[in-house]
Amino acid sequence: MSDYLKFNSLPSGKHEGKHHIIIVGAGIIGVCTAYFIIKHPKFDPEKYHVTILESKRVAGGASGKAGGLLALWAFPQQIVPLSFRLHQELSDMYNGGQEWGYRRLTTVSLEGDISHVPDHPSDEEDEVPQPKAQRVTKEGKVETKRPSKNLRTRSARTNKLPADLNWISSEVITECSTLGGTDTTAQVHPYKFTNFILKKAVEDANGSLEIVLGKVEEIVYSMENGTATGVKFTPTSMKSEFDEPIELKGDQIVLSVGPWTSKILPDCPISGLRAHSITIAPFEDQPVSPYAIFTEFKNGPTSFTSPEIYARQDEVYVCGEGDSAVDVPETTDDVEVVKSKCDDLFRQVGKFSPNLRKGHILKRQACYLPILNVPSSSGPLIGETNVDKLYICSGHSCWGINNAPGTGKIMSEVLLDGKAKSANISSLNPSLYFDASILVDASDNDENYDSV
Ligand SMILES: Cc1cc2nc3c(=O)[nH]c(=O)nc-3n(C[C@H](O)[C@H](O)[C@H](O)COP(=O)(O)OP(=O)(O)OC[C@H]3O[C@@H](n4cnc5c(N)ncnc54)[C@H](O)[C@@H]3O)c2cc1C
Ligand SMILES: *[C@@H]1O[C@H](CO)[C@@H](O)[C@H](O)[C@H]1NC(C)=O
Ligand SMILES: *[C@@H]1O[C@H](CO)[C@@H](O)[C@H](O)[C@H]1NC(C)=O
Ligand SMILES: *[C@@H]1O[C@H](CO)[C@@H](O)[C@H](O)[C@H]1NC(C)=O
Repeated sequence: MSDYLKFNSLPSGKHEGKHHIIIVGAGIIGVCTAYFIIKHPKFDPEKYHVTILESKRVAGGASGKAGGLLALWAFPQQIVPLSFRLHQELSDMYNGGQEWGYRRLTTVSLEGDISHVPDHPSDEEDEVPQPKAQRVTKEGKVETKRPSKNLRTRSARTNKLPADLNWISSEVITECSTLGGTDTTAQVHPYKFTNFILKKAVEDANGSLEIVLGKVEEIVYSMENGTATGVKFTPTSMKSEFDEPIELKGDQIVLSVGPWTSKILPDCPISGLRAHSITIAPFEDQPVSPYAIFTEFKNGPTSFTSPEIYARQDEVYVCGEGDSAVDVPETTDDVEVVKSKCDDLFRQVGKFSPNLRKGHILKRQACYLPILNVPSSSGPLIGETNVDKLYICSGHSCWGINNAPGTGKIMSEVLLDGKAKSANISSLNPSLYFDASILVDASDNDENYDSV
């Protein structure tokens, strides 16, 4: 755990007598929300206190394991331009290039055929038959892949690769089109970004921001008027000492728990879709030029594969398709990583990148994408629910890294000004999509905890 971040096992009590904002979840969304609250002109450490409750670790889920592509052509357009600009501003302010690998890059889409390229010679493992992958499209229909970031009209198609894209073999490519240049595409290392922004928020808060390791079990509502008045949580850094969850009172409760949202608010239509990814150390003598690459390769008589590949300053990130094989587990620490899925990704990219074929895998990982399952929106949901003082910012699908600063900025306005000022988010209003007053049945809940 980072040395600059101190975690409490229990709340310090410093919130008493102040306006207390509780943020649940220290993914990129919760962290950006905390940061922009601290930076808000109305924020005064004498009057406000912010507590982040995180069950396991900062950016332990998708926020630390995502690709980190940023694009002006992402969705939803209500917040994308704001967020893309804030990413640039944060990088300018804090030396993002150095601190979290921020840089502009080019994005291309490639099509090709690798069905006749032999497997990695040194790889003895056989191809494992995989369960059918799933895609949830922008419209919410289930197809066969991860939600695609690639919704943009392509430029003219050609089969010639850009001259500096020298780490892809041109022989297997049938089509190449540019999706964005350095004017519209950038990248961050999401784990480093999230940790850095949290560190800044803690430093600038002058003691009025604390992080508590605890898993929120439920929201506490006022019996008289239904307002949210706090949360009940189980400390996670001091097991077995507490049988009963502890209640923490708050004036505003913000849920930024991504794919875990419906575990706390059962009516909320946000679910999780698992996706595997790897990072690769490229072959030493061949530096990898800065490209983000969407792909679609024929890899068998009737099968296709479409890994997304992002070159970083010192490694290459590759992620694969989603699978609905395993439901969202209790915590980020319990996410199951299937080694063969990661090795398959490595094998596939090796077939169209000689450089990566000669490299080696640094990390094998999996995480859950927070998906909004409604026909009319691809998310996220940002703002107050139909329960007074209970807010969510969740369901960012495949663009949560891109949209995190924008979401944090808007949430800080909703919380401290009473309404969003930087963007029109009326169509992202959570109260349009679900009823937050429907409670988890307590007996049900206990059963779930025991059985998982
Ligand atoms: C493979 C993959 C690649 C991606 N690539 C990109 C990309 O290139 N660009 C982009 O913009 N987006 C990308 N995304 C999407 C992006 O990663 C997500 O939208 C984003 O990380 C969501 O952040 P979050 O903070 O909402 O959720 P999470 O990162 O899931 O964080 C939620 C946090 O809440 C905590 N939590 C959960 N339940 C509780 C509880 N009860 N009590 C306390 N804490 C709790 C968890 O421990 C976790 O830390 C990608 C996603 C995946 C899966
Ligand atoms: C924290 O203290 C410093 C130095 O006193 C001050 O400049 C800064 O504005 C304070 N931060 C907040 C959020 O009030
Ligand atoms: C609702 O009740 C709680 C106490 O149960 C109180 O603190 C709060 O101010 C009330 N809110 C409204 C809007 O009446
Ligand atoms: C905000 O957007 C909605 C459509 O999503 C529109 O109906 C409304 O008029 C807009 N509000 C403002 C203030 O522009």
